[in-house]
Amino acid sequence: MNIRYLGHSCFLVRHGEHTVVIDPFLTGNPLAAARPEDIQASAVLVTHGHGDHVGDAAAIAARCGCPVIANYEVSLHLSQQGVQVEPMHIGGARTFPWGTVKLTQAFHGSGIELEGGGFKEGGMPAGILLTMGPYTFYHAGDTALFGDMKMLGELNRIDAAALPIGDVFTMGPDDSLIAASWLKAGLYIPMHYNTFPPIRQDADAWLERLRSQGQSGTVLKPGESCDIKRTDAAVISGRSSVE
Ligand code: NI
Ligand code: MN
Repeated sequence: MNIRYLGHSCFLVRHGEHTVVIDPFLTGNPLAAARPEDIQASAVLVTHGHGDHVGDAAAIAARCGCPVIANYEVSLHLSQQGVQVEPMHIGGARTFPWGTVKLTQAFHGSGIELEGGGFKEGGMPAGILLTMGPYTFYHAGDTALFGDMKMLGELNRIDAAALPIGDVFTMGPDDSLIAASWLKAGLYIPMHYNTFPPIRQDADAWLERLRSQGQSGTVLKPGESCDIKRTDAAVISGRSSVE
């Protein structure tokens, strides 16, 4: 499995001939490492209704002729805009030709901001357990630390996990390190930081603390990717254009 970070909470996850994109906030993201028109995906996965996660989901899905997978309320909102959707909800898993998605709980909001003001009900925010081939990637979405991350670690063999470290709106560095100790993932990747001033963090300092508590991680600059191997030996393949 190859995991490419595109900035904020956006990842391109590839296994074999299939690539899926998670939380494609590219337009308006000062750190985005790709343009929405560069993305080729078999599916677009969205953790919750906030603009910095739904992002360019509708445009990418329309151009690629692929579905958006999200909770029921976000799916309904997008389907009303003519987007092909595959609704799910927390606790449910669903298998697609390219892999399996299970939505997990997240402690956050999910209101969909409407043009011209106001919010639309966006259901519950989610994390995503994405399994492609033998590999499972846990994208925590936007969330606080919660005790059932221990259960996620016990019930799943997580090869790689992306955790928010930005603080203010999500877990900060301290809580994400506790999450890392519970999830028992092979590799941790920080996300949801440095995009905007309130969520500025020192990811290298976080990585040092992660390693000192006996865990593996990597800080991917936007555009960088890593290969997940069953041995946990992830290798940073370096900056290159989006595949
Ligand atoms: Ni959010
Ligand atoms: Mn967010």
